[in-house]
Parts: sequence; C-alpha cells; structure tokens
Amino acid sequence: MELCFHGRCTQRRQPPARHRIERKIRDLLDYTRARGPGIPIQREPTNLFELCKQNIDSMEQLHPTRRFRLEVEGDVQGEWDRERVLQLVSNLLSNAVKFGREGTPITAALKDLGDQVELAVHNQGAFIPPETVPRLFERFVRGDGPAATADQGLGLGLFIVKQIVLGHGGTVDVRSDDTEGTILTVRLPHRP
Ligand SMILES: Nc1ncnc2c1ncn2[C@@H]1O[C@H](COP(=O)(O)OP(=O)(O)O)[C@@H](O)[C@H]1O
Ligand SMILES: [Mg+2]
Repeated sequence: MELCFHGRCTQRRQPPARHRIERKIRDLLDYTRARGPGIPIQREPTNLFELCKQNIDSMEQLHPTRRFRLEVEGDVQGEWDRERVLQLVSNLLSNAVKFGREGTPITAALKDLGDQVELAVHNQGAFIPPETVPRLFERFVRGDGPAATADQGLGLGLFIVKQIVLGHGGTVDVRSDDTEGTILTVRLPHRP
C-alpha cells in the first residue's frame, strides 16, 4: 500500500466460500437488529488510521493486483465501536474493489475536520446511476452492472454502513459520476 501523510500526523483471489457465507449471515443479523433496537455501539478509543491500514493489509492479500493508497491528515482517533468501524471500512473498501475498475487505484483518505473525522473512499469505474443514488443506503438496493451481477451480494453493505454511522451520530454521502468515479464519504464525530 502507498502511505501518504499530510502535515502533522499522530499516528487475488476470492475470500473462501465459508467466509462469504459467514459474512452474509452476519449482515442478515445486522439487518434484523437495525429494524429493531438498532445496531448496538460499544465505544472505546479507536484509531481510524490503524483500522484502515489493517483492512487494506488484508485486502492486499486477497487482491494482489489492486493498488491501495492511504492518506492521513491530522488526528483521526475517536471514541468509537472499533469492530463496527472496522466493518464499515471493510464494506466500503470491498465495494471499491468489487466495483472499481481493474488497474486503477483505490484511495482511502482520512482527515481531521475539528469535531469530526472524515473517511473518503474513492475508486474509478462504472458510476452509480443518479436514479439509484437517493436509495443507495436502503436495504437490498444493488446495481445491475456486471460486477454486481457476478458477485451475488445481498445489497446490505451500504445499509449497514449507514446504520453504523447513525449509531455514532455521523453522516455518509456518495458522489458518483463518469469522470471522477465514486467517492463514499463518512464523517464521524470524535466523541458523542
Ligand atoms: N464503490 C462503488 N463504486 C460503484 N458502485 C458502488 C460502489 N459501492 C456500492 N456501489 C453500488 O451500490 C450498490 C449497493 O452496494 P452494497 O449495499 O454494498 O451492496 P452489494 O455490494 O451487495 O451489491 C452496489 O450493488 C453497487 O451497484
Ligand atoms: Mg457491498
């Protein structure tokens, strides 16, 4: 992975079938929880840079032909649910791999915004149709391009991302077009 620090800074193959099935079951459980009391959040001191680095390290094992870039600017730590935020990062990065164009880099850019931390995940490739964008974070919404068809995902990844973000009092946005590709931007308050 290419690492890039701005300013002062504090800090191949498909996954085996068993892991994919386990992940689908976990996603369905999260979906059920989100319809009831919401996804439970257990806060602890968490460094978003470390979580992203950890996730990119394992993505690089799984997808040795893909290039990843991690940019960091300022203090990107917070009082968050570490496991949940790792799940959020993993959902965004695995989408970027799945829907990003082979041969183009995937960038995770972290930035301290003062009271919030921003994570922006960018990839090139087929853009999300404007009519899908308003419904993108709803459950079971998927694209119909070749990458989505081949993968047989559940369309729960971004729904779960949104639930985790809401549990932390944050926001998530998407920008997607023909020239820039797709950027998913999450902002989490450092603390409640
Ligand atoms: N990084 C991305 N680039 C392009 N399209 C994306 C990206 N992330 C998500 N999408 C689109 O949003 C849809 C929903 O994503 P998600 O909820 O993770 O479901 P799934 O990955 O199971 O298809 C995808 O099917 C795809 O069409
Ligand atoms: Mg997904």
